[in-house]
Amino acid sequence: LKRTGGTVLKASGLAAGKGVFVCRDADDVEEGLRHLYHTDMAKAAATVVVEETLVGREVSYFTFLGHGGATPLGFAVDFKRLEDDDRGPNTGGMGCYAPVPWLPVGAGHLVEERIVKPLLAQLDAEGIAYTGCLYVGIMWTPTGPEVVEFNVRFGDPEAQVLAVYDDRDWLALMADKAGLTIAPEALAAATAKVAHKQRAVAVVLASKGYPFGSGADAAPGRLPLALFGAEADHLSVFAAAVRPGDAAGTVKTGLGRVLTVCARGADFAAARAKAYAKVGEIKALWPDARCRTDIGARVAREEKGLA
Ligand code: GLY
Repeated sequence: LKRTGGTVLKASGLAAGKGVFVCRDADDVEEGLRHLYHTDMAKAAATVVVEETLVGREVSYFTFLGHGGATPLGFAVDFKRLEDDDRGPNTGGMGCYAPVPWLPVGAGHLVEERIVKPLLAQLDAEGIAYTGCLYVGIMWTPTGPEVVEFNVRFGDPEAQVLAVYDDRDWLALMADKAGLTIAPEALAAATAKVAHKQRAVAVVLASKGYPFGSGADAAPGRLPLALFGAEADHLSVFAAAVRPGDAAGTVKTGLGRVLTVCARGADFAAARAKAYAKVGEIKALWPDARCRTDIGARVAREEKGLA
């Protein structure tokens, strides 16, 4: 409470989304406790969880775990709200950028030491050998990284943006983590540090109505199959919800988060320009697609010293 000036009270039981109180001062705490203990929430609040409010910037960290320990993939920033300026409902992620230049020097090392190593020690103590991708959701506070959540999977669209950012051979890396024997030169290439200084941006195109409604009234996009496939000039379009189209060589868009357009460039402004040019082409064929227009805009301004 002293570090951030805030605390969170949370009913441990199910409270239909009404059991969380973010408190800035003692009056807020009293008000929160009154709701928790003296309303119809009392059953859900049989146990109340008290936590510090985390204030900072959110960032996701990824590392492969398995044979030989951790091989970090690095950081990416996800945009969870549907609309520009972080407005609208939460989604699975409407865009992303990597790397994350506003983090302090040595941020990756700090996460490994403060979070990943203790986690591995605890897993070890419990006899759990985990092989796979670890995703740490982090709030980067003035005093460093605090864990928001752990996932034992990749992120979407973080995986896509990191795949375009990172030239390493992930298949070789994953084979190594799984304990398979791979050629020493393949392993050396797979585990080398990312050598370039470029930036990558991912923009998600979702169906009309996402994240609510069936989207049944939306006109599906009809897109050329050639849109996907081999990455050209560090520009890739990843598909999540498409099916064969009526005409040969075409696909029809489905529902939800449908496509992720990823681009890499010399800086964030260049990566954004390349990604949004492709988004514009796709929207000409699929006008009902929705996307945010501000993915990577703030970090691009920061990079140029404008923010
Ligand atoms: N983009 C957030 C997630 O994959 O959970």
